Amino acid sequence: FKRWAHTTPTMNYRSVTEEDVAHFAKILAPSSVLSTLAPVSTPASELSIYNNDWMNKYHGKSTTVLRPKTTKEVSEIVKWCNERRIAIVPQGGNTGLVGGGVPIIDEVILNLGNMNKIRSFDPVSGIIVADSGCVLEAMSEYLVPHHYIMPLDLGAKGSCQIGGNVSTNAGGLRLLRYGSLHGSVLGLEVVLPDGTILDQLSTLRKDNTGYDLKQLFIGAEGTLGVVTGVSILSAPAPNASSNVMLALPKYENVLPLFREVKRQLSEILSAFEFIDRRAYELAVKHGQGRALNDEDVEGAECFVLVETSGGKREHDEEKLNTLLESLMEADEPLINTGVLSQSPLQFSQLWAIREGITEAVSKEGKAYKYDISIPVASFKTVVDTTRDHLQSKGLLRDDAVKHVVGYGHVGDGNLHLNIVAAEYSPEIESALEPFVYELVQSYKGSVSAEHGIGVMKTHALQYSKNATSIDLMRRIKTLFDPNGIMNPGKVLP
Ligand code: FAD
Ligand code: MLT
Ligand code: ZN
Repeated sequence: FKRWAHTTPTMNYRSVTEEDVAHFAKILAPSSVLSTLAPVSTPASELSIYNNDWMNKYHGKSTTVLRPKTTKEVSEIVKWCNERRIAIVPQGGNTGLVGGGVPIIDEVILNLGNMNKIRSFDPVSGIIVADSGCVLEAMSEYLVPHHYIMPLDLGAKGSCQIGGNVSTNAGGLRLLRYGSLHGSVLGLEVVLPDGTILDQLSTLRKDNTGYDLKQLFIGAEGTLGVVTGVSILSAPAPNASSNVMLALPKYENVLPLFREVKRQLSEILSAFEFIDRRAYELAVKHGQGRALNDEDVEGAECFVLVETSGGKREHDEEKLNTLLESLMEADEPLINTGVLSQSPLQFSQLWAIREGITEAVSKEGKAYKYDISIPVASFKTVVDTTRDHLQSKGLLRDDAVKHVVGYGHVGDGNLHLNIVAAEYSPEIESALEPFVYELVQSYKGSVSAEHGIGVMKTHALQYSKNATSIDLMRRIKTLFDPNGIMNPGKVLP
C-alpha cells in the first residue's frame, strides 16, 4: 500500500463526436458551445485557455467546451454525457493549483462562467445565494453596500468562482477569522452525474435532519457532481481594518509572536500570515505591492502580516499600537520593526506583497507547489530540509532549482512550500516526490491543506489518508457516479 506509484490514469471514455456536438448545440445557445468539431468548428486556439491550467503545468486536449447558462442546461448536458460515457471536467475560474480543472485527455469541459447571477440576499441574516459561476470578487463587491463581506478571500479572487471555491474547499486569507467553507456554506444545488438536480440550497443556519450531504461536495473537486448554486453565510463588514508587516530577526520568533499577538489583539485579530525572506524578495522583484524600506528589511529572516478587523477604529488602533510598543520595547524583542499601514492605499499595498507571492513565483519560473499542513514550529525545518535535499542532489543551481520559498497561513498551520525551477523536469520532480510527502507524513501532516488533490496528488493521498478512508471515498464515488464520468483521474488514486 505504501509503494510509490505515479502513473497516468488509463481513461476508458468515449471521445466527443460531431453527433454529440450537434446535440449540445440544440441544448445551449450558439455562443455557449465551443468545439473544434463540426458543426461548430471553433478554432483550436480559442479552446487553449480552457485546456491549460493557471500555472501552465497541466495540459488537456479537449475538443469541446460547454458554457451553460442554467441549471437545467447543465442537467441535460450531464445526462447526455452519462448515457454515452463521455467524461466531464467541471471548470470554474481555472485558478486551481493541482490540475483538477483541466482535462487529462479530451474530456468535455463544462465551464460554469456563464452562470453568474446572484439569486438572493437577506440583509438580516447575511445569507447570499448565488449561481456557482459567480466570481468571488463580484460577490464581495455586491455585498459592499449591504455592509457585509464574503467569509473567504484569496489572491485569485478576481477570477475564481464560488463553485470552484466550494469544490476545492478553498481556505485563503480569512479562514483564521471566519472558519472553513464546511461551516459557512449553508446549502448547495448540485447536478448529479446522471443529470438529476439535487436541491439542497438551504438558507437555514440549523438543520439536523440526518446526513449532511452537501458536505460531501465541499472539496470533492468536481468528482461527485456539478455545483450549480451556493448558499453561503456572509459576515458583517468590520467598521475598521488595519494591518502591519512585522519583520522578524529569526524564524523561531514566529510562534511566540503568534501567541503574544493573539493574547493582546484577541477578538480583533483577523489574519496572521507568514512570508519568508526569499518569498518577500520574489514578491518585490516582480512588482507585487510596494517594497518596504531597506532598513525595515535589513536583518529580517522572515515577515508576518497581521491584520485587525473590528468595530471601532480608536479602540482597534489603541490595541495595535500598544502591541507594537510592547513588542519593540521587550528585553529580547521578537521583532526588528513593524510597518503599520496609514491609509487604505498602504493597507492594500501590504496585502499585495502577501497575495502577490503566487504570481511572483510563477513569473520567476516553474513552480512545484506543496500546500501542506504541518506543525507551525516545523515550517522552517521543512523549507530548509527540502533546500538541503535539492542541494545534495546537485539541483540547486540557476538552470534547475532557482529558489525554495515558504509562506502561508500560520494561524491555520498551513505552509506553502514552493520550489521555483527554471523548467518542469522529471529529475526535479523525482527529487521532490515522494521526499516532500514522506516529510509531511513524518509530522502526521496533510499533503493538501487547502488546494485539493486534483491530478497532482492522487498518488500522494495515501500519505494523509489510511486505506479504510480511501476505500470509503471510492465507495462514495461509485455510489454517486457509477460510470465514473465526473472528473476522472482526479482526487482518487
Ligand atoms: P477551478 O480551478 O476552475 O477548479 C478547481 C476544481 O474545482 C477542479 O477540480 C474543478 O473540476 C472543480 N470545480 C470548479 N467549479 C466547479 C463546479 N461548479 N462544480 C463542481 N466542481 C467544480 N486556494 C486556497 O485555498 N487559498 C488561497 O489562498 C488561494 N490563493 C490562490 C491565489 C492565486 C493567485 C491562485 C492562482 C490560486 C489560489 N488558490 C488558493 C487556489 C484555488 O483553489 C482557488 O483559486 C479556487 O478555489 C479555485 O476556484 P476556481 O473557480 O478557479 O476553480
Ligand atoms: C496563497 O496562500 O497565497 C495561496 O494558497 C496560493 C499559493 O499557495 O501560492
Ligand atoms: Zn494559501
